[in-house]
Amino acid sequence: MDEEIFKKTPGKTPNLNEYTKNQYSAEKQIEMWNGKINAAHNAIDRHCTTWRKNKIALIWEGEKEERKYTFNDLREETNRFANLLVELGIKKGDRAFIFLPRVPELYIGFLGIVKTGAIAGTMFSAFGPDAIKDRLKDSGASILITNSELKKRVDAVRHELPELRHIILTDSEKATHDTIPFSEAKKMPDKFDVARMDPEENAFMLYTSGTTGKPKGVVHCHWAIMHQHMTAKWVLDLQDDDIYWCTADPGWVTGIAYEILGNWSNGATTLVHEGRFDPEKWYSLIQKHKVTIWYTAPTAIRMLMQSGESYKKYDMSSLRHMCSVGEPLNPEAIRWGIKAFGLAFHDTWWQTETGGMLICNYICLDMKIGSMGKPFPGITASIVDDAGKELPIGEEGNLAIKPGWPSMMKVIWNNPKKYEEYFKGGWYISGDRAKMDKDGYFWFIGRADDVIKTAGERVGPFEVESALIEHKAVAEAGVIGKPDPTRGEIIKAFLKLRPGFSPSPQLENEIKEFIKSRLAGHAYPREIAFVESLPKTRSGKIMRRVLKARELGLPVGDLSTLEEY
Ligand code: WTA
Repeated sequence: MDEEIFKKTPGKTPNLNEYTKNQYSAEKQIEMWNGKINAAHNAIDRHCTTWRKNKIALIWEGEKEERKYTFNDLREETNRFANLLVELGIKKGDRAFIFLPRVPELYIGFLGIVKTGAIAGTMFSAFGPDAIKDRLKDSGASILITNSELKKRVDAVRHELPELRHIILTDSEKATHDTIPFSEAKKMPDKFDVARMDPEENAFMLYTSGTTGKPKGVVHCHWAIMHQHMTAKWVLDLQDDDIYWCTADPGWVTGIAYEILGNWSNGATTLVHEGRFDPEKWYSLIQKHKVTIWYTAPTAIRMLMQSGESYKKYDMSSLRHMCSVGEPLNPEAIRWGIKAFGLAFHDTWWQTETGGMLICNYICLDMKIGSMGKPFPGITASIVDDAGKELPIGEEGNLAIKPGWPSMMKVIWNNPKKYEEYFKGGWYISGDRAKMDKDGYFWFIGRADDVIKTAGERVGPFEVESALIEHKAVAEAGVIGKPDPTRGEIIKAFLKLRPGFSPSPQLENEIKEFIKSRLAGHAYPREIAFVESLPKTRSGKIMRRVLKARELGLPVGDLSTLEEY
């Protein structure tokens, strides 16, 4: 395969070795109190003893209004809220959950909880009663912050949640028999004695889907902010004059690590958009707020690509750096970014469990288009076999990380056995398959359980999907291995077409021929189904396991983290 390289300007940016040297001074950038720490204090309070005190921390673009908060505003609001929590009897180690759209109370609530030494948990506002019940029950949460509308879904399962003591409502002014208004915090002092935690003590948790069973509660410690800080600095390249926009929801780990902790720890002015995805709105926000750094996800990028050239109507010239996370970033999306904005989306790889970015493309590093990049300084990544033995360069295997990085998950809540299962032969096994090339770049292949074996040949569904969406008629593609008596498996593709194209046998053949000629003779989909939509998680990943289960007539399993299905 010919490598397509996006060359960086030499001399303009520091090289990776300089970054590595800095790694050892990183701890100094994170304030500690005699070996104790609090992530919320690091993200917010410590700036208030510097010139950043009155710098804008949060630009909130709500559905109906816009609000701005300085670091000092956030310090005071989170202190007040922490005082309210203490009055409600919260204790170190308790679990307090947030079930809200992207409103300021979500951010203030999260940081306030962390300040008390309790564990903050988040949930997507799209969750229904069963998903809520699973999370609140398993975590044993005693406090929930939500609004009146979303509370109805909690009420439906409240009788199954005996440990849930208090519900705090953001949109009510009066206490009722079972709720307390968020605004009670206004009556509280703006000073708070922030809990001084051991670095390894728990700070936040969130539930994520595995291939089997119910979602599991991944718990992170206060010290994780060290890694979130350094990655936000070196990968996102946050500087003091930047306006930074992360499009993720804090129901997803990206929205916690890089929309609350790592970004604010660097003192970055951060834009939060309450509303849903909408190309024109997104471009207008970049123009209005002069966004300089943009962290988003491949599905969003592909949807922008599909929406035509409306970006031309807006001034996008403030943008200086763009990153992506969550699923494979197709080369076509990078090429589009270069065409549309003159900038390449920089892919970053990580997981809920890793608490921060681990394999990335950097502003200072030539980008091999289609690669996830190289391990972050201080991180050792490798490709290992199923026994945890390292494999030679170029061979496909399990993407594995040497354990012990600061933001590595601490426990799986109530499930120590599940936690142990991640580690083998001295490695953390990610569940992803990948390869590393001779230059140390990592290339994603697929989830360990999604790789297709057809007529003895191994095919990564991602490769096929990437190729498929390069076809002019294809908007989105999901590919699975379908059991076949002759070939073991055949490749089946589920395709959503772009507007203006309709399904036909001719189009089906054309696409098959296109893949045969573009990818490999054996890697074309022998079966194609045209669909209206593909099942996706909130973070935009196409859920192949759902496609597969449907195809085989099997139970689809837990769907609570799905956006569409
Ligand atoms: C996938 C997301 C390809 C991968 C922060 C991983 C990616 C899972 C990338 C974790 C990437 C994430 N390229 N695949 N750059 N980033 N993934 O826990 O399969 O929601 O294991 O965390 O997303 O998803 P999670």
